[in-house]
Amino acid sequence: MDPGYVVNEEQLKNEMKEFKAPFEHFGTQAIHAGQKPEQWKSMAVVPPISLATTFKQYGPGEHAGYEYSRSGNPTRDCLEKAVAAVDGAKHCLAFASGLATTVTITHLLKAGDNIICTNDVYGGTNRYFKRVAAEMGVETTFVDCSKPECLEAAIKPSTKMVWIETPTNPTMMVLDINKCAEIVHKHGDILLVVDNTFMSAYFQRPLALGADICMYSATKYMNGHSDVVLGLASLNRHDVYERLKYLQNALGGVPSPFDCYLCNRGLKTLHLRMKEHFRNALAVAKFLEADPRVEKVLFPGLPSHPQYELTKRQCTGCPGMLSFYIKGELQHSKTFLQALKVFILAESLGGYESLAELPSIMTHAAVAKEEREALGISDTLIRLSVGLEDVEDIIEDLDQALKAAHPSISLRN
Ligand SMILES: Cc1ncc(COP(=O)(O)O)c(C=O)c1O
Repeated sequence: MDPGYVVNEEQLKNEMKEFKAPFEHFGTQAIHAGQKPEQWKSMAVVPPISLATTFKQYGPGEHAGYEYSRSGNPTRDCLEKAVAAVDGAKHCLAFASGLATTVTITHLLKAGDNIICTNDVYGGTNRYFKRVAAEMGVETTFVDCSKPECLEAAIKPSTKMVWIETPTNPTMMVLDINKCAEIVHKHGDILLVVDNTFMSAYFQRPLALGADICMYSATKYMNGHSDVVLGLASLNRHDVYERLKYLQNALGGVPSPFDCYLCNRGLKTLHLRMKEHFRNALAVAKFLEADPRVEKVLFPGLPSHPQYELTKRQCTGCPGMLSFYIKGELQHSKTFLQALKVFILAESLGGYESLAELPSIMTHAAVAKEEREALGISDTLIRLSVGLEDVEDIIEDLDQALKAAHPSISLRN
C-alpha cells in the first residue's frame, strides 16, 4: 500500500458510532426466531432441508399444516419467520428471486392502476415496470422521490403503489422513507414499498419508518454468500399478507427448500457481516476521498455525502456499497478494473467477496444513455461492493489499480 496511507482504526470506530445503535436483540432473533428444535421430531438444532414436494394427509383435506411444497414448506417457513423477526414485522414471504418478489407484489394491482416509482431503481425493476407490467395495463410513472414535492405532484386517483429504493444504485442517493410514507398515506390506500436490498435488515427497518412492504433481493446481503438467488417481502398488514400469500402460491414463484436453507443460514451472521462491511467500506471511502486520482466518492457514511444527516437518522450504519468517479475517461476506468486483483470484476453485490463493476457498460447498460447521463452514470463511475477481506489488502488493491490507470499522477506526500 502507499506508505503515506494508514487506516485509522480509532477514527473509523468514532465515525461508526455517529450512527444510531443497532436494533435490539437483532443477532438473537436472526439466530433463534422460528428455529426451535422442538418443532422437529428429531429435535434437530439446524432446520432440516425438507425436499418433499407433497405431504401425507391423515384423511382427505386433513393434514399437519403442509399439503404441497409450493403452498407451504417447513424449511421456507423457518426462513420467513427469522426474516419477519429481524425486520420487526408480523409476516414475511419468500420468493424465487428479488424480481419474482417484485412481480408478485405488483400482482396486488390490476389493469388501470398506476405505480409511482422513484427514477433511480435497479435496472430489472425499471425494465419490469416499463416493459412488462405496462403491457398488462399497469402504468408506471417514474419521478425523483428524493424530492417530496415531485412524489406528491405525481399521485393521481389511480395510484395504488409507490416504489422506492434507498440508497439508489449506483449513485447512492438516500431517500427519506418517513417523509415518503407521510405523503403516500395522506392520499388514501396506497402501498409504499421499499426495496431494502442495499441496507439489509440490519441497517434499516422500512416498516418502522412507515412503509407497507419491505422487499429484498436476498441474493445480496441477506444471504451474503453469493450462492443463492432469492427474494423476500416483510409486512405487517394482515389483509395485504393474506393476498400476497395467495399470490405466492397462485403465481408460483417460490424458492427451493435448499435455497431457503442457505439463506436462513446466511441470515444467522448478517449482523456480524454488516458491521464489517461498514467498517471496510468506510475505510475505503476515506482512502478514495483523499486520493488525487479520484474525482468524487459517493458513500452515505461519509460526512461529505449530501444526505449524511438523513442517513444517520434513518439507518444504523451503511453497507459495503460505494461508487466513485475515477479521474479521466472510459479507458482509465477499464484499466483500473482490469488491474484489480482482490476485487473481482463482476455484477451483483452483497457477498463476502469484494466486487467491482462499471455500471454504464454492465449493470446499467439497458438504461437509455440520456437517462444514464441525467442520473450521473458516466463511463468513469465505478461501483464497488466492498467485501470482508482484510481492509489493508482491499485498499492496497485499489491503490495499485489506480496506479495502473494513472501512472503519472503523483500521490500525497
Ligand atoms: C436493489 C435490487 N433490487 C432487486 C434486485 C433483483 O433481485 P434478483 O436478482 O434476486 O432477482 C436486484 C438485483 O441486482 C437489486 O440490486
